[in-house]
Amino acid sequence: MTDEFEFESLLSEEARHRAAPGLLVSASGAPSDIVADLLVGQPAKESLPLQAMVEAAKNTLPDSPEMLLYGRRQGSIDLVDVVREKLRLFEGLEVDPEQIIITNGSGQGIDLTLRTFANRNQPVALDEASFGALFVRRVSSYGFHIPWDTDGPLPDALEKAISEQHPALFYTIPTFQNPMGRTTTLQRRYELLEVCRRHRIPILEDDAYYELHYDGNRPASMYELDGGSGMVVRAGTFSKILGAGIRLGWILTSSSLADRILPLKADGGTSPFSSALASHFMQKHMEKHISELQSIYRTRRDVMLEALDTYVGQHATWEKPNGGFFVWVTLDQPDLVGNVLERCRAQGVLIRSGTVFRVDGADLGSIRLAFSHATHDQIRAGVEILGQAIKTSTQ
Ligand SMILES: Cc1ncc(COP(=O)(O)O)c(C=O)c1O
Repeated sequence: MTDEFEFESLLSEEARHRAAPGLLVSASGAPSDIVADLLVGQPAKESLPLQAMVEAAKNTLPDSPEMLLYGRRQGSIDLVDVVREKLRLFEGLEVDPEQIIITNGSGQGIDLTLRTFANRNQPVALDEASFGALFVRRVSSYGFHIPWDTDGPLPDALEKAISEQHPALFYTIPTFQNPMGRTTTLQRRYELLEVCRRHRIPILEDDAYYELHYDGNRPASMYELDGGSGMVVRAGTFSKILGAGIRLGWILTSSSLADRILPLKADGGTSPFSSALASHFMQKHMEKHISELQSIYRTRRDVMLEALDTYVGQHATWEKPNGGFFVWVTLDQPDLVGNVLERCRAQGVLIRSGTVFRVDGADLGSIRLAFSHATHDQIRAGVEILGQAIKTSTQ
């Protein structure tokens, strides 16, 4: 057998700084013999419009050789127009095509925005627990978290942290937050914008779940409240409304900032093939499809909340999310998280520990349950096993 090539000592600074492999979240799907996959924010299988995508391919491919050629760096013109139409339809927002960049999922848009503003030696401010920790670890050595209350990030804490640590930007997920499920109130959004404006701190608004709204109010985006000055970059995605495998998302900001972000994007143009299929599907089905998704996920959320009441009851606390894919559960005995998750895993229930949402790996005593992908029965079975694991660990 050939000796393994020793590459560790040859790695670039960037590769060396990246998170250890064990810390990364794998989106590669769970093994088939598990009881419940409550791990990854994947869409429900029945929400995937497989047949309609076959139709889209049949209708577009024969007359569109450009689908198999390199694309524009800014992304497909048709897909930019789909995003503009979505903004008009759902939010009454009018934006210019130059304000939008199509990306390989919103993940690429987030990475580009972070790299536009942050050097490795500059800190990035994040929500108390944040999906963004996965991205920030890659670009900055010094992320830090801003505490939340039920209305969102605390403006005083943000202001203090800005004065002391001078972050390159504030990365927040204000709507149906991942993992906490909360939504920053309108009033709090104004306050945060005011703090950032005063200190000239750009905001990355990660808005992956905006369309998946089940009840209650959904405040205007930070992008809209700011008025499109370029202080806010808003990242959106087709992963949750069409399918994560399509790998398409977008960023929206002022056209002049988009011009400065675009040169960092070096990918031969976001897939013209995926973009043509997504455009064709969305032009025909967007409104109806999103309304069907809302109904699918509203029911799943309710199944999970009912199961939590029944099986976990007094041993933990959680809130009802008005949208998105997750319920954030905080154990009454926070030090039991590792033990509880180990027991769940041994019985085929996959759940994400809250620690991955912290750049410092702090244990908040919380776990994130995804209700998006598992069936109703799997959700019930998974939460029942979780309840037993908590009770056994407590004894
Ligand atoms: C809050 C949030 N932002 C961004 C993403 C990235 O998704 P994608 O790159 O598939 O658009 C996700 C995916 O789970 C997410 O939950």
